[in-house]
Amino acid sequence: MANAQPFSFEASFSSSVPPARPRAAIRRGKYDFAVAYADPPSVPLDGLLDSLASAFQDEGKDLAVYPHPQGYPPLREYIAGKLQRDRDMRVGPDDIMVGGGSGEPIGLLIETLIDPGDVVLTENWVYGGTLNTLRRFRADVRGVECDDDGFVPDALESALQKAVGEGKRPKFIYAIPTFQNPQGWTMTLERRQEVVRLSQEYGVPILEDDCYADLRFEGEDVTSLHALDDTGRVMYVASFSKIIAPGVRMGYMAAPPEVLSRAQSVKQGGGANQLAALTVHRYATSGLEDHIGDLKNILRTKRDAMLAALGENFGSAATWSRPEGGMYIWGRLPEGADLVSVQQKVMDDADVGYHTGVQYSPDGVSGKNYFRLCFGYNTPEEIHEGVAKFAEVLDGEGMLRG
Ligand SMILES: Cc1ncc(COP(=O)(O)O)c(C=O)c1O
Repeated sequence: MANAQPFSFEASFSSSVPPARPRAAIRRGKYDFAVAYADPPSVPLDGLLDSLASAFQDEGKDLAVYPHPQGYPPLREYIAGKLQRDRDMRVGPDDIMVGGGSGEPIGLLIETLIDPGDVVLTENWVYGGTLNTLRRFRADVRGVECDDDGFVPDALESALQKAVGEGKRPKFIYAIPTFQNPQGWTMTLERRQEVVRLSQEYGVPILEDDCYADLRFEGEDVTSLHALDDTGRVMYVASFSKIIAPGVRMGYMAAPPEVLSRAQSVKQGGGANQLAALTVHRYATSGLEDHIGDLKNILRTKRDAMLAALGENFGSAATWSRPEGGMYIWGRLPEGADLVSVQQKVMDDADVGYHTGVQYSPDGVSGKNYFRLCFGYNTPEEIHEGVAKFAEVLDGEGMLRG
């Protein structure tokens, strides 16, 4: 039609769609402490290329058909073996469904289980991707007090009692018990036992998000929540993003059969990416264990660089965590400091990206004086430079005095 006006979709979006992200959250700084990226030089390109070539030779022509709805069976077999060996889980390949990272399985489980108003209990600061999806499905997300050992059991029990008393038995407890994102702590065995006991007593399942468990560079492993339960109430998700690279988009869930089959009916798009699954399977069964060993050394060095840089530049003006694994340091400035208002300035003036506590708060508003720094991406030298520049801008804004 002649003279038709340009169309804008602004008025067409579903009410469940979150607002567009602000620029600072999208642009990447030179010092990218914001998102959990891998160390670029350590992405195992040669190993992945060899894996792809060998998989193509063996069964590349199978790409002509859609993959198995739960994902490539040999990869599920590998995953089941790994979970038995590393996380003490009693699972087999049929208990597993492969997906696009762990984000997709988390999204499928939320879509499968959540109706508007359903209560979900979670750690007081917790991974924003899951919070965003829970909000989209209009869950009533309630943060529960944690300390450096994980959920405070009395606080978890009170939250369970309160919800049950309101006639709203929580749909599940969402927990990241190992190298918690963003707080960095690992829930102790005693606390894990307590969480599983409470979930059994109150008839509430658990969604355990365990994507950092392979990245311990200090201390002793603690078994999974899944292994501590023998009643089939723990759903489990993990990923290859942190141990190979996020770009491969491969992760998985382990869940009871009735959950898996309903989650499959929710999933769109003809199964998980078979090209990635073939590659990850060949790589996982050849070079991955050695690679994880290398990654842990790299991450330890980077964590140490970031801790040293924080000590040199923030002194007593902030407090921060000292994680034994994973990729994050969680910091706190005094009450009243507003790290949200300076996020753009820090990006523009210092080329530094970081996340604030608001992105991790179940209420979506508190946490302006908290920051999360990922030490996975930059080199130790860049970490020193970037933390110094970050502190300089904050100091200029009067946030590091006293
Ligand atoms: C706790 C947690 N769960 C899930 C994810 C999703 O990652 P992916 O989909 O790449 O596995 C992340 C990403 O940072 C995360 O930190």
